[in-house]
Amino acid sequence: MRIGVPKEIKDNEFRVGLTPSSASELVRNGHEVVVQAGAGAGSGLSDEEYASAGAVIATSAAEIFERAQLIVKVKEPQAGERQLLRPGHVLFTYLHLAADRAQTLDLMKSGATCIAYETVTSPQGALPLLTPMSEVAGRLAPQVGAHCLEKEAGGRGILLGGVPGVPAAEVVVLGGGVVGSHAAAIALGMGANVTVVDRNPEALRRLDFRFGTGVRTIFSTQGAIAEIVRRADLLIGTVLVPGAKAPKLVSREMVRGMKNGAVIVDVAIDQGGCCETSRPTSHSSPTYVDEGVVHYCVTNMPGAVPRTSTFALNNATLPFVLALAGKGWEKATADDPHLAAGVNVVAGKVVCKPVAEALGL
Ligand SMILES: NC(=O)c1ccc[n+]([C@@H]2O[C@H](COP(=O)([O-])OP(=O)(O)OC[C@H]3O[C@@H](n4cnc5c(N)ncnc54)[C@H](O)[C@@H]3O)[C@@H](O)[C@H]2O)c1
Repeated sequence: MRIGVPKEIKDNEFRVGLTPSSASELVRNGHEVVVQAGAGAGSGLSDEEYASAGAVIATSAAEIFERAQLIVKVKEPQAGERQLLRPGHVLFTYLHLAADRAQTLDLMKSGATCIAYETVTSPQGALPLLTPMSEVAGRLAPQVGAHCLEKEAGGRGILLGGVPGVPAAEVVVLGGGVVGSHAAAIALGMGANVTVVDRNPEALRRLDFRFGTGVRTIFSTQGAIAEIVRRADLLIGTVLVPGAKAPKLVSREMVRGMKNGAVIVDVAIDQGGCCETSRPTSHSSPTYVDEGVVHYCVTNMPGAVPRTSTFALNNATLPFVLALAGKGWEKATADDPHLAAGVNVVAGKVVCKPVAEALGL
Protein backbone atom coordinates (compact mmCIF):
# COMPACT_ATOMS: atom_id res chain seq x y z
CA MET A 1 0.00 0.00 0.00
CA ARG A 2 1.21 3.53 -0.72
CA ILE A 3 0.62 5.71 2.35
CA GLY A 4 0.68 9.50 2.14
CA VAL A 5 1.29 11.98 4.96
CA PRO A 6 0.53 15.60 4.03
CA LYS A 7 1.64 18.55 6.15
CA GLU A 8 -1.25 19.74 8.34
CA ILE A 9 -2.58 23.09 7.17
CA LYS A 10 -5.25 23.86 9.78
CA ASP A 11 -4.46 27.04 11.71
CA ASN A 12 -1.95 26.41 14.53
CA GLU A 13 -1.80 22.64 13.96
CA PHE A 14 1.73 21.32 14.47
CA ARG A 15 1.08 17.59 14.84
CA VAL A 16 1.72 15.11 12.02
CA GLY A 17 -0.05 11.88 11.02
CA LEU A 18 2.95 9.54 11.17
CA THR A 19 6.24 9.76 13.09
CA PRO A 20 9.43 8.51 11.44
CA SER A 21 9.29 5.36 13.58
CA SER A 22 5.70 4.67 12.46
CA ALA A 23 6.84 5.25 8.85
CA SER A 24 9.71 2.84 9.38
CA GLU A 25 7.34 0.20 10.79
CA LEU A 26 5.15 0.50 7.69
CA VAL A 27 8.14 0.34 5.35
CA ARG A 28 9.35 -2.79 7.16
CA ASN A 29 5.94 -4.32 6.48
CA GLY A 30 6.42 -3.81 2.75
CA HIS A 31 4.54 -0.53 2.29
CA GLU A 32 5.65 2.69 0.68
CA VAL A 33 5.38 5.92 2.71
CA VAL A 34 5.34 9.35 1.07
CA VAL A 35 5.71 12.34 3.42
CA GLN A 36 5.32 15.98 2.43
CA ALA A 37 8.48 18.03 2.98
CA GLY A 38 8.30 19.80 6.36
CA ALA A 39 5.29 17.75 7.53
CA GLY A 40 6.97 16.86 10.84
CA ALA A 41 8.74 20.18 11.45
CA GLY A 42 6.13 21.45 13.93
CA SER A 43 6.70 18.34 16.04
CA GLY A 44 10.49 18.61 15.76
CA LEU A 45 10.71 15.78 13.19
CA SER A 46 12.95 16.51 10.19
CA ASP A 47 12.67 15.34 6.58
CA GLU A 48 16.03 13.59 7.10
CA GLU A 49 14.54 11.47 9.91
CA TYR A 50 11.70 10.41 7.60
CA ALA A 51 14.14 9.70 4.78
CA SER A 52 16.29 7.52 7.07
CA ALA A 53 13.11 5.69 8.08
CA GLY A 54 12.68 4.74 4.43
CA ALA A 55 10.00 7.31 3.52
CA VAL A 56 10.00 9.24 0.25
CA ILE A 57 9.78 13.04 0.61
CA ALA A 58 7.31 14.79 -1.70
CA THR A 59 7.32 18.52 -2.30
CA SER A 60 3.58 19.25 -2.32
CA ALA A 61 0.30 18.05 -0.84
CA ALA A 62 -0.99 17.60 -4.40
CA GLU A 63 1.80 15.08 -5.02
CA ILE A 64 0.87 13.16 -1.84
CA PHE A 65 -2.79 12.94 -2.78
CA GLU A 66 -1.84 12.00 -6.34
CA ARG A 67 0.42 9.13 -5.28
CA ALA A 68 -1.12 7.78 -2.08
CA GLN A 69 -3.88 5.19 -1.61
CA LEU A 70 -4.11 5.60 2.18
CA ILE A 71 -3.84 9.14 3.58
CA VAL A 72 -2.98 9.50 7.26
CA LYS A 73 -3.54 12.91 8.84
CA VAL A 74 -4.37 14.52 12.18
CA LYS A 75 -7.08 17.15 11.59
CA GLU A 76 -10.04 17.04 9.24
CA PRO A 77 -9.16 17.83 5.61
CA GLN A 78 -9.46 21.53 4.86
CA ALA A 79 -11.45 22.73 1.84
CA GLY A 80 -8.39 22.69 -0.48
CA GLU A 81 -7.41 19.19 0.62
CA ARG A 82 -10.96 17.91 0.10
CA GLN A 83 -10.72 18.83 -3.56
CA LEU A 84 -7.74 16.48 -3.88
CA LEU A 85 -9.65 13.46 -2.51
CA ARG A 86 -10.98 10.94 -5.03
CA PRO A 87 -12.61 7.50 -5.18
CA GLY A 88 -10.05 4.87 -4.22
CA HIS A 89 -8.53 7.03 -1.47
CA VAL A 90 -8.82 5.90 2.13
CA LEU A 91 -8.58 8.84 4.55
CA PHE A 92 -7.73 8.11 8.20
CA THR A 93 -7.83 11.16 10.51
CA TYR A 94 -9.95 13.11 13.05
CA LEU A 95 -13.09 14.23 11.16
CA HIS A 96 -15.74 15.40 13.71
CA LEU A 97 -18.39 15.38 10.97
CA ALA A 98 -21.53 15.70 13.13
CA ALA A 99 -20.93 19.43 13.49
CA ASP A 100 -19.56 20.03 9.98
CA ARG A 101 -22.04 19.75 7.14
CA ALA A 102 -19.82 21.41 4.51
CA GLN A 103 -17.01 18.94 5.11
CA THR A 104 -19.40 15.97 5.13
CA LEU A 105 -20.90 16.96 1.78
CA ASP A 106 -17.41 17.39 0.28
CA LEU A 107 -16.30 13.99 1.57
CA MET A 108 -19.46 12.40 0.14
CA LYS A 109 -18.77 14.09 -3.21
CA SER A 110 -15.14 12.89 -3.22
CA GLY A 111 -16.08 9.19 -3.33
CA ALA A 112 -13.26 8.47 -0.86
CA THR A 113 -13.54 6.09 2.12
CA CYS A 114 -13.24 8.27 5.21
CA ILE A 115 -12.42 6.72 8.59
CA ALA A 116 -12.60 8.97 11.66
CA TYR A 117 -10.24 8.50 14.62
CA GLU A 118 -12.89 9.75 17.04
CA THR A 119 -15.47 7.03 16.34
CA VAL A 120 -13.09 4.03 16.46
CA THR A 121 -14.03 2.02 19.57
CA SER A 122 -12.28 -0.44 21.89
CA PRO A 123 -13.48 -3.73 23.39
CA GLN A 124 -13.91 -1.86 26.70
CA GLY A 125 -16.39 0.53 25.05
CA ALA A 126 -13.90 3.42 25.11
CA LEU A 127 -12.69 5.67 22.28
CA PRO A 128 -9.02 4.66 22.06
CA LEU A 129 -7.98 7.31 19.55
CA LEU A 130 -9.44 10.12 21.69
CA THR A 131 -7.92 8.83 24.95
CA PRO A 132 -4.31 9.87 24.23
CA MET A 133 -5.39 13.50 23.72
CA SER A 134 -7.38 13.40 26.98
CA GLU A 135 -4.26 12.09 28.72
CA VAL A 136 -2.22 14.97 27.30
CA ALA A 137 -4.84 17.61 28.23
CA GLY A 138 -5.22 16.14 31.72
CA ARG A 139 -1.50 16.19 32.42
CA LEU A 140 -1.17 19.67 30.95
CA ALA A 141 -3.99 21.17 33.04
CA PRO A 142 -2.14 21.48 36.41
CA GLN A 143 0.93 22.77 34.54
CA VAL A 144 -0.97 25.63 32.86
CA GLY A 145 -3.00 26.15 36.04
CA ALA A 146 0.20 26.53 38.09
CA HIS A 147 1.44 29.13 35.60
CA CYS A 148 -1.89 31.03 35.71
CA LEU A 149 -1.64 31.17 39.53
CA GLU A 150 1.56 33.21 39.19
CA LYS A 151 1.12 36.93 39.87
CA GLU A 152 2.30 38.11 36.46
CA ALA A 153 -0.26 35.83 34.83
CA GLY A 154 -3.05 37.46 36.87
CA GLY A 155 -3.23 34.75 39.53
CA ARG A 156 -3.15 34.84 43.33
CA GLY A 157 0.62 34.58 43.35
CA ILE A 158 0.83 31.19 45.02
CA LEU A 159 2.99 28.16 44.37
CA LEU A 160 1.02 24.99 43.68
CA GLY A 161 3.15 22.86 45.99
CA GLY A 162 3.66 25.51 48.71
CA VAL A 163 6.92 25.33 50.69
CA PRO A 164 7.71 24.04 54.20
CA GLY A 165 5.66 26.20 56.55
CA VAL A 166 3.35 27.54 53.82
CA PRO A 167 0.42 25.39 52.69
CA ALA A 168 0.10 23.99 49.19
CA ALA A 169 -2.66 25.12 46.82
CA GLU A 170 -6.10 23.52 46.85
CA VAL A 171 -6.75 21.86 43.49
CA VAL A 172 -10.30 20.74 42.75
CA VAL A 173 -10.88 18.49 39.73
CA LEU A 174 -14.48 18.21 38.52
CA GLY A 175 -14.82 14.83 36.79
CA GLY A 176 -12.57 11.85 37.47
CA GLY A 177 -12.40 10.20 34.03
CA VAL A 178 -9.36 10.14 31.75
CA VAL A 179 -8.61 13.89 31.87
CA GLY A 180 -9.49 14.15 35.56
CA SER A 181 -7.39 11.23 36.79
CA HIS A 182 -4.33 12.40 34.83
CA ALA A 183 -4.81 15.96 36.12
CA ALA A 184 -5.06 14.62 39.68
CA ALA A 185 -1.87 12.58 39.28
CA ILE A 186 0.17 15.59 38.11
CA ALA A 187 -1.32 18.04 40.63
CA LEU A 188 -0.52 15.55 43.39
CA GLY A 189 3.00 15.14 42.05
CA MET A 190 3.42 18.93 42.12
CA GLY A 191 2.60 18.85 45.81
CA ALA A 192 -0.92 20.30 45.75
CA ASN A 193 -3.85 19.24 47.95
CA VAL A 194 -6.11 17.47 45.47
CA THR A 195 -9.85 16.78 45.55
CA VAL A 196 -11.71 15.01 42.73
CA VAL A 197 -15.50 15.24 42.32
CA ASP A 198 -17.41 12.70 40.20
CA ARG A 199 -20.98 11.44 40.02
CA ASN A 200 -19.89 7.90 39.17
CA PRO A 201 -19.03 5.94 42.34
CA GLU A 202 -16.90 3.55 40.26
CA ALA A 203 -14.74 6.46 39.05
CA LEU A 204 -14.29 7.57 42.68
CA ARG A 205 -13.37 4.01 43.72
CA ARG A 206 -10.78 3.77 40.93
CA LEU A 207 -9.20 7.05 42.10
CA ASP A 208 -9.21 5.93 45.72
CA PHE A 209 -7.61 2.61 44.77
CA ARG A 210 -4.94 4.38 42.71
CA PHE A 211 -4.06 7.30 44.99
CA GLY A 212 -5.13 6.03 48.40
CA THR A 213 -5.73 8.87 50.82
CA GLY A 214 -3.47 11.19 48.79
CA VAL A 215 -6.45 12.38 46.76
CA ARG A 216 -9.78 13.25 48.38
CA THR A 217 -12.80 11.99 46.45
CA ILE A 218 -16.23 13.58 46.72
CA PHE A 219 -19.54 12.45 45.26
CA SER A 220 -20.95 15.08 42.92
CA THR A 221 -23.91 17.09 44.24
CA GLN A 222 -24.63 20.79 43.74
CA GLY A 223 -24.13 21.41 47.47
CA ALA A 224 -20.78 19.63 47.57
CA ILE A 225 -19.57 21.47 44.46
CA ALA A 226 -20.62 24.89 45.82
CA GLU A 227 -18.69 24.21 49.03
CA ILE A 228 -15.51 22.85 47.47
CA VAL A 229 -15.31 25.40 44.62
CA ARG A 230 -15.24 28.25 47.17
CA ARG A 231 -12.05 26.83 48.69
CA ALA A 232 -10.27 26.07 45.38
CA ASP A 233 -7.14 27.90 44.26
CA LEU A 234 -7.19 25.95 41.00
CA LEU A 235 -10.38 24.43 39.60
CA ILE A 236 -9.97 21.97 36.71
CA GLY A 237 -13.17 21.17 34.77
CA THR A 238 -13.18 17.76 33.05
CA VAL A 239 -16.79 16.48 33.19
CA LEU A 240 -18.23 14.75 30.16
CA VAL A 241 -21.66 13.40 29.42
CA PRO A 242 -20.99 11.53 26.15
CA GLY A 243 -22.71 13.06 23.15
CA ALA A 244 -24.10 16.01 25.16
CA LYS A 245 -22.99 19.51 26.07
CA ALA A 246 -21.00 19.62 29.30
CA PRO A 247 -23.27 20.21 32.32
CA LYS A 248 -22.80 23.69 33.84
CA LEU A 249 -21.85 22.51 37.31
CA VAL A 250 -20.34 25.84 38.38
CA SER A 251 -22.63 28.87 38.22
CA ARG A 252 -21.51 32.48 37.83
CA GLU A 253 -22.49 33.02 41.45
CA MET A 254 -20.16 30.23 42.56
CA VAL A 255 -17.31 31.75 40.51
CA ARG A 256 -18.03 35.13 42.15
CA GLY A 257 -17.62 33.42 45.52
CA MET A 258 -14.15 32.06 44.62
CA LYS A 259 -10.94 33.63 45.90
CA ASN A 260 -9.69 36.64 44.00
CA GLY A 261 -6.97 35.48 41.59
CA ALA A 262 -8.03 31.82 41.72
CA VAL A 263 -7.79 29.94 38.42
CA ILE A 264 -10.23 27.86 36.37
CA VAL A 265 -8.82 25.54 33.69
CA ASP A 266 -11.95 24.34 31.89
CA VAL A 267 -10.73 21.39 29.82
CA ALA A 268 -14.34 20.47 29.01
CA ILE A 269 -14.61 23.68 26.99
CA ASP A 270 -14.62 21.68 23.74
CA GLN A 271 -18.07 20.47 24.84
CA GLY A 272 -19.13 23.95 26.00
CA GLY A 273 -17.33 23.98 29.36
CA CYS A 274 -18.62 23.12 32.83
CA CYS A 275 -18.54 26.66 34.29
CA GLU A 276 -21.11 29.31 33.42
CA THR A 277 -18.30 31.87 32.99
CA SER A 278 -16.26 29.75 30.54
CA ARG A 279 -15.89 30.75 26.90
CA PRO A 280 -13.48 29.25 24.33
CA THR A 281 -9.96 30.72 24.07
CA SER A 282 -6.96 29.95 21.86
CA HIS A 283 -3.23 29.35 22.37
CA SER A 284 -2.48 32.87 21.12
CA SER A 285 -4.75 34.40 23.80
CA PRO A 286 -5.39 31.60 26.31
CA THR A 287 -6.77 33.43 29.36
CA TYR A 288 -9.21 36.11 30.50
CA VAL A 289 -10.42 37.29 33.89
CA ASP A 290 -14.09 37.10 34.87
CA GLU A 291 -15.44 37.67 38.42
CA GLY A 292 -11.80 38.12 39.54
CA VAL A 293 -10.94 34.55 38.47
CA VAL A 294 -8.41 33.72 35.74
CA HIS A 295 -10.00 31.45 33.11
CA TYR A 296 -7.95 29.20 30.78
CA CYS A 297 -10.35 27.66 28.24
CA VAL A 298 -8.24 26.54 25.27
CA THR A 299 -10.24 24.15 23.11
CA ASN A 300 -7.23 22.25 21.72
CA MET A 301 -4.85 22.03 24.67
CA PRO A 302 -2.72 19.19 23.16
CA GLY A 303 -1.71 21.69 20.46
CA ALA A 304 0.57 23.31 23.08
CA VAL A 305 2.73 20.19 23.11
CA PRO A 306 2.58 18.92 19.52
CA ARG A 307 5.61 16.68 19.81
CA THR A 308 4.27 14.72 22.79
CA SER A 309 0.80 14.70 21.23
CA THR A 310 2.09 13.41 17.88
CA PHE A 311 3.88 10.49 19.55
CA ALA A 312 0.90 9.73 21.84
CA LEU A 313 -1.49 9.77 18.87
CA ASN A 314 0.80 7.55 16.77
CA ASN A 315 1.05 4.96 19.54
CA ALA A 316 -2.73 4.62 19.35
CA THR A 317 -3.22 4.89 15.58
CA LEU A 318 -0.32 2.78 14.27
CA PRO A 319 -1.94 -0.65 14.81
CA PHE A 320 -4.97 0.52 12.82
CA VAL A 321 -2.80 2.06 10.08
CA LEU A 322 -0.91 -1.25 9.83
CA ALA A 323 -4.20 -3.15 9.54
CA LEU A 324 -5.60 -0.78 6.89
CA ALA A 325 -2.37 -0.89 4.88
CA GLY A 326 -1.87 -4.64 5.25
CA LYS A 327 -5.38 -5.87 4.54
CA GLY A 328 -7.08 -3.02 2.68
CA TRP A 329 -9.96 -1.20 4.37
CA GLU A 330 -12.70 -3.72 3.46
CA LYS A 331 -10.96 -6.70 5.07
CA ALA A 332 -9.49 -4.67 7.96
CA THR A 333 -12.93 -3.36 8.95
CA ALA A 334 -14.63 -6.73 8.32
CA ASP A 335 -12.10 -8.34 10.69
CA ASP A 336 -12.33 -5.62 13.37
CA PRO A 337 -15.73 -4.18 14.35
CA HIS A 338 -13.94 -1.49 16.41
CA LEU A 339 -12.13 -0.15 13.35
CA ALA A 340 -15.39 -0.54 11.39
CA ALA A 341 -17.00 1.84 13.89
CA GLY A 342 -14.58 4.46 12.59
CA VAL A 343 -15.89 4.34 9.01
CA ASN A 344 -17.93 7.51 8.45
CA VAL A 345 -18.24 7.94 4.67
CA VAL A 346 -18.07 5.33 1.89
CA ALA A 347 -18.76 5.77 -1.83
CA GLY A 348 -20.69 8.99 -1.37
CA LYS A 349 -22.77 7.83 1.62
CA VAL A 350 -22.60 8.58 5.33
CA VAL A 351 -22.41 5.20 7.10
CA CYS A 352 -21.93 6.37 10.71
CA LYS A 353 -25.38 6.54 12.30
CA PRO A 354 -24.85 9.43 14.77
CA VAL A 355 -23.32 11.56 11.98
CA ALA A 356 -26.15 10.73 9.58
CA GLU A 357 -28.73 11.55 12.25
CA ALA A 358 -27.03 14.77 13.34
CA LEU A 359 -26.95 16.04 9.75
CA GLY A 360 -30.20 14.51 8.50
CA LEU A 361 -28.36 12.65 5.73
N1 LIG B 1 -9.71 21.24 25.81
C1 LIG B 1 -9.04 20.25 25.26
O1 LIG B 1 -8.05 20.45 24.57
C2 LIG B 1 -9.45 18.83 25.50
C3 LIG B 1 -8.58 17.78 25.20
C4 LIG B 1 -8.99 16.48 25.49
C5 LIG B 1 -10.26 16.24 26.03
N2 LIG B 1 -11.09 17.30 26.28
C6 LIG B 1 -12.42 17.15 26.87
O2 LIG B 1 -12.33 16.84 28.25
C7 LIG B 1 -13.58 16.28 28.66
C8 LIG B 1 -13.33 15.05 29.52
O3 LIG B 1 -12.79 14.01 28.72
P1 LIG B 1 -12.47 12.58 29.35
O4 LIG B 1 -11.78 11.81 28.27
O5 LIG B 1 -11.82 12.72 30.67
O6 LIG B 1 -13.95 11.99 29.57
P2 LIG B 1 -14.33 10.80 30.55
O7 LIG B 1 -15.64 10.27 30.08
O8 LIG B 1 -13.19 9.85 30.72
O9 LIG B 1 -14.55 11.52 31.99
C9 LIG B 1 -15.61 12.38 32.26
C10 LIG B 1 -16.02 12.20 33.71
O10 LIG B 1 -17.00 13.20 34.03
C11 LIG B 1 -17.85 12.61 34.98
N3 LIG B 1 -19.10 13.38 35.11
C12 LIG B 1 -20.14 13.47 34.25
N4 LIG B 1 -21.10 14.26 34.77
C13 LIG B 1 -20.66 14.66 36.00
C14 LIG B 1 -21.22 15.45 37.02
N5 LIG B 1 -22.41 16.00 36.90
N6 LIG B 1 -20.48 15.65 38.15
C15 LIG B 1 -19.26 15.11 38.27
N7 LIG B 1 -18.69 14.32 37.33
C16 LIG B 1 -19.39 14.11 36.21
C17 LIG B 1 -18.08 11.20 34.45
O11 LIG B 1 -18.59 10.34 35.44
C18 LIG B 1 -16.65 10.83 34.01
O12 LIG B 1 -15.92 10.17 35.04
C19 LIG B 1 -14.33 16.00 27.36
O13 LIG B 1 -15.26 17.02 27.13
C20 LIG B 1 -13.24 16.03 26.32
O14 LIG B 1 -13.76 16.35 25.03
C21 LIG B 1 -10.70 18.58 26.02
